Amino acid sequence: MLIFTENKVLSSHLLPLINQNKTIGFIPTMGALHKGHLSLIEKSLIENDITVMSIFVNPTQFNNKEDLEKYPRTLEADVAKIKKISSEVIIYNPTVKDIYENNVESQDFSYDGLEFQMEGKHRVGHFNGVGTIVKRLFEIIKPTNAYFGEKDFQQLQIVKKMVSKHNLPVTIIGCPIYREKSGLAMSSRNERLSDESREKASVIYEILKETKKLFQKKSANEVVKIVEEKFKKMPDFKLEYFEIAEESTLLTCKRKNKTKKYRGFIAVFIDNIRLIDNISM
Ligand code: PAJ
Repeated sequence: MLIFTENKVLSSHLLPLINQNKTIGFIPTMGALHKGHLSLIEKSLIENDITVMSIFVNPTQFNNKEDLEKYPRTLEADVAKIKKISSEVIIYNPTVKDIYENNVESQDFSYDGLEFQMEGKHRVGHFNGVGTIVKRLFEIIKPTNAYFGEKDFQQLQIVKKMVSKHNLPVTIIGCPIYREKSGLAMSSRNERLSDESREKASVIYEILKETKKLFQKKSANEVVKIVEEKFKKMPDFKLEYFEIAEESTLLTCKRKNKTKKYRGFIAVFIDNIRLIDNISM
């Protein structure tokens, strides 16, 4: 199993393979791997000659120092999980210095307004940090295909936008949300939930499924109100937002248009842990 920590060494390993026209599938992650992450590896292994996964907790995308410090770092366990699937996967686990040298700062990106919706309102600067790291990783790895989960749907759309605006030679592939048996969307943050809260959190997906049904008959605004009322009656949860937005622009749905695709997006706290999820409407 190859694990690289230096971008130059990784690039010089990959370059001859790229020159032989081998396709590279790339999965960027922040580690603390779960089955959602592993499902992206499996897809990449099928679709590419070479699969690279990065494991890097990116400081520039955290707007909360405590969240960055508390982010789980479990490299040994992550490597073991990847090995179980395939020892052919190449791991890139850089230091902050290897990525950022002495300048741990985000570049400014414009994503045509996608960055001001939902997560952008609550995590200021977050998507500049994501754009900065993803672009840097693409420069180092030069992937043919890169895999992103629909779990972070706004991130997926933002990365697609960055790739098209900067003409980057990579295809972005969105992958379905992998869920626990209870329906709870898998997330590294779930590990921080108590058993009781983890069980309770399955209600998030139950509510999302209900909104999908309601949206067939009611307006977006009415559905949002129903969800807000529901959460008011559940003191264990603090709803940050529930929104129905159009998939490509992420603009809030004001009036339904049959030719457009919509999604319901939610961010909610339980045990002071912020969970996000979404559903296609
Ligand atoms: P991270 O949260 O580790 O997620 C890595 C990738 O796994 C993302 O594309 C995310 O959408 C996907 N993923 C997470 N949970 C999933 C699930 N339950 N089902 C399917 N896919 C899932 O997202 C990041 O890291 C970072 O922002 C990153 C892109 C690595 C940049 O630092």
